[in-house]
This record gives sequence, C-alpha cells and structure tokens, in this order.
Amino acid sequence: AEIHYHEFVIQAKPVKRLCRTHNTITVNGQFPGPTLQVRNGDSLVIKAINNAQYNVTLHWHGIRQLRNPWADGPDMVTQCPIRPGRSYTYRFTIQNQEGTLWWHAHSKWLRATVYGALIIYPKLGSSYPFPMPKQEIPILLGEWWDRNPMDVLKLATFTGAAPNVSDAYTINGQPGDLYRCSQKETAVFPVASGETILLRIINSAMNQELFFAIANHKMTVVEVDAAYTKPFTTSVIVISPGQTTTVLLTADQTPGRYYMAARAYHPAQNAPFDNTTTTAILQYTSAPCNTKKGKSLPPILPQLPAYNDTNTVTAFTGQLRSPQKVEVPIQIDENLFFTVGLGLINCTNPNSPRCQGPNGTRFTASINNVSFVLPTRNSLMQAYYQGQPGIFTTDFPPVPPLQFDYTGNVSRGLWTPVKRTKLYKLKYGSKVQIVFQDTSIVTPDDHPMHLHGYHFAVVGTGFGNFNPGTDTVKFNLIDPPFRNTIGAPPGGWVAIRFVADNPGIWLLHCHLDSHLTWGLAMSFLVENGAGQLQSVQPPPLDLPQC
Ligand code: C2O
Repeated sequence: AEIHYHEFVIQAKPVKRLCRTHNTITVNGQFPGPTLQVRNGDSLVIKAINNAQYNVTLHWHGIRQLRNPWADGPDMVTQCPIRPGRSYTYRFTIQNQEGTLWWHAHSKWLRATVYGALIIYPKLGSSYPFPMPKQEIPILLGEWWDRNPMDVLKLATFTGAAPNVSDAYTINGQPGDLYRCSQKETAVFPVASGETILLRIINSAMNQELFFAIANHKMTVVEVDAAYTKPFTTSVIVISPGQTTTVLLTADQTPGRYYMAARAYHPAQNAPFDNTTTTAILQYTSAPCNTKKGKSLPPILPQLPAYNDTNTVTAFTGQLRSPQKVEVPIQIDENLFFTVGLGLINCTNPNSPRCQGPNGTRFTASINNVSFVLPTRNSLMQAYYQGQPGIFTTDFPPVPPLQFDYTGNVSRGLWTPVKRTKLYKLKYGSKVQIVFQDTSIVTPDDHPMHLHGYHFAVVGTGFGNFNPGTDTVKFNLIDPPFRNTIGAPPGGWVAIRFVADNPGIWLLHCHLDSHLTWGLAMSFLVENGAGQLQSVQPPPLDLPQC
C-alpha cells in the first residue's frame, strides 16, 4: 500500500463562464479541483491550506473513516473550521472500498465550486469484476451560478425564501455549447471506434438531481457509491447530489460526434428550478470530417426524460442490485422512522424583508420535526471527546412526535419544527434500520439522504405511507445495493439497514444544499465498543480549535 501526499491550497481564482468572470473559490487554482487516484488499502495525507476569505473544511464523501471521524470534515460536526490563513492535514486510509467517490468542501455553500473526483482502484494484483476498459473518464456534473454562490446562500438565509436557482449545469466545470458564449467551455472526450471506456459519473450539483444520457449509446451500470452492482444496461441514468454511478460505454455507433447531456429531475411541484441542459461531446477519433463549408455539423442530442418523470427514476433505481448475496442485518436493534420534508415558519412580522417565503413565512426543513442547528461554540465531535456539556443533547426522537398521513394534505400545525442540536445515540455494533418517509408538507419532494461514516444496504422503497406490516416482508435482504446516499422518493419512503460499527459522531443529511441549509439533518453518536480497536482514535494535534 502507498501513502499519497497532496497539498490542497484553497484560494480564489478568476473563472469565466457564461461570458462573465467571477472570483471563484478553487483548490490549487483548479475548477473542478484535482482528481485523487489511489488504490484500495492506500493512505492519503492531504494538507488543506486555507488561503480563501472564508472558513472552510473538506469532506471525503463516501470514505468510511473507520474510528477516524477527525478526517471526515463536516463543519462544526467533526471539526471546527480551518480559518483563513490556517491549515489542517487530513489523514486517512482506504479500508475495503473501491470505485468512484469524490471530495468536496463541507462548509456553507463552498462546495458549489470546491470539489473533485476521488477514484479508488483495486489493490495491485486484483482487477475489476468486468473487462478492463481502454480508458477512464471522470464526469463531474455540477451547477454554476452567475454570481458568488455564497451570496446566493446569504440572500436566501436573510430573506427566508428559496435560494435563486442556478444559471447552468456543468460537465467537468464546463456548461457546454447550448449556453450563451460557451462554445469554448464544452468538454470533448475523444474515443476510438469500437473501444469500451469507463465513465465515472459524479453528481456534485448543489440542489438538483439529474438525468444523464448519451445520444444513440447505451450504458452498462457496474458500480454505484463505490460498491459494485449486478451489471445492467440503460439508456438514461438518474443521479442525486452526492451519488456516483460508474458505467461502461462502448463506442459502437457510426463514427461521429454525440452529445452527452444532463438536465434536472425535479419532482417538487410549483417550485422554480434550473431547466437548462448541459452537454459535452463524445468524439469518435475516426469520425470523417463532418463539415459543411468548414463548419462542423452539430452533434446529435440524446433523449432525456421529462423533468418530473418519476417513473423513469423508479425503473432505474429498481434495477440496482449487489452482484451476489450480501450480508444484511436481519434482527434489528434500532427501528428508526424518520420523516423528511420541508416546512414553513410563520414570521412574527410578515412584512419584514426577512420574511420572503410563501404567505408570510420562512422556509425550513426537518427530520421528525426537528430542524438541525449546527453548534457555534465547539464542534460536536470535539465537545463529545472532551466531555464538554451544553453543546448538544442526545434526545433525537426515533419516530415522529405524531403520526399523520404523511403523503396527504397536512394541517398547518405540523409545518413548524423545533430548531435544536439533537443527536441519536447508537450502541456500538447495534443493527439499525431507518425508514425515510417523505412528507408532502409544502410539496412532495425527493430527498437524497447521505450518511457520513457508513454505507448501507437499501432494502426497500415504495410510494405512499410506509406500512411496516405489508412493506417489511417485501424487503430485499438477499442482494440489495450498498450506497452512501439514497433518495427518499417524492410522496414515498426508502428503507436502509447497517451495523453501527464505526464509533464517532456522524452527520445524516439531505444532500440538496438548500434543504441542508434549512435543517434537513441530524447526527448519530455511535458509542465506543469494548476495546481500543472499537474506539475512536485520538484527534490529530493540528485539529483546528473553535
Ligand atoms: Cu457529500 Cu455531508 O456530504
């Protein structure tokens, strides 16, 4: 196994998109940031140097960080932020994981531009469970604002309204030539006719689930969230922020130029969204000079589903399986039922500029009616480790405070959650089931739920209210897929299972950053086990203090 040393300098750099230049927060001046390439079993030592004007932290999305929450990164959860002018070195080892993951800033809305791919190859001497591809391409889907994303956040948190939607989606930081003055900002991927390549697709967008397709080409899904899948072929994939999907693509069409394209899957009703399309070009190297008086013909566009096509989403996710029988907890110690959804807070003065939500309200979001508030005096993990009281409580409710028809029209009394820093305690080694139930409060919506420090088996999903009696018996406990981010479908539910074998404090949240900002989060406190190898490691000496 190798140790990989990197320096990540977080700094502003002018980046021009959609005809305008913005001072953009980047890593090492790169947008998107550098791609990390390691093997299973390797260690990473990444010195993050903050030369930006904001507090920042970095998160290695999907890395399990066994007994090592100190390297996980969420701001005020596992660490105090790295202040401008300071640095912190993230040290961690890849333990039994391979595939496509990514890294991103985990402080306010900095991840809008501070992100990159993290690719884990098999150990030396072992190989993929599919034929070796000729070429591998990371495809980072992103979202671009024609302004500073931190200002978008500030405005939204001030007014209490929904944040402005983005101005473009991007592929590897480039919007593509369907946008104004983006001819040059179009990613081109050359491919030889007949060759099979591996696309490592990552949704790093802030607030939007996306459909992705390539004109005239089918894709074979082989891995999601760094877990191999039973291969299946599809002409479109759906991917939520936080998720990764790795596909094999064979250049088996007439040599030419084909667009790959992504645009929104947006089930929320009456909510504005960015309905533009980002493109990149798959360019056969053997394509004849496709010109008409020296001008090349436009590539062919793929068919993408309608923005609200939940059927396509259900059909796609329904095909995901582990390649063989896997170990899933059968007897459950912790049976958790979490409602996930939006809410609205009545303002005391509806005419105030701080009250620009619908009908004299401010937007909020919650799990089991608790809207998560980050602590301000110390990070959760540091407070816990030092035994500092008063930073959090451990009375997060395992079930909602009251039951109602979650997918029906809900009375206004249920719209107002409490704002607290509540954690839920798990015994080391306990077997956990969580059912995430979307509520239709404000609107039915899809919530990509991400759990730090773990991956989990996705054992079941459905529409309507979860019914423990009839739904549990249909769970797939044989070959469910493993993920770190899973969408609770609009007006429906999804069930996951995992063993709480990683001690520490781990954030669980909706990976739509507008929802996270409104409080759609909670944290688990997984207690230490009996021995040293079941306990959290001591913190590194350079861990930032608050
Ligand atoms: Cu990819 Cu808490 O994040």
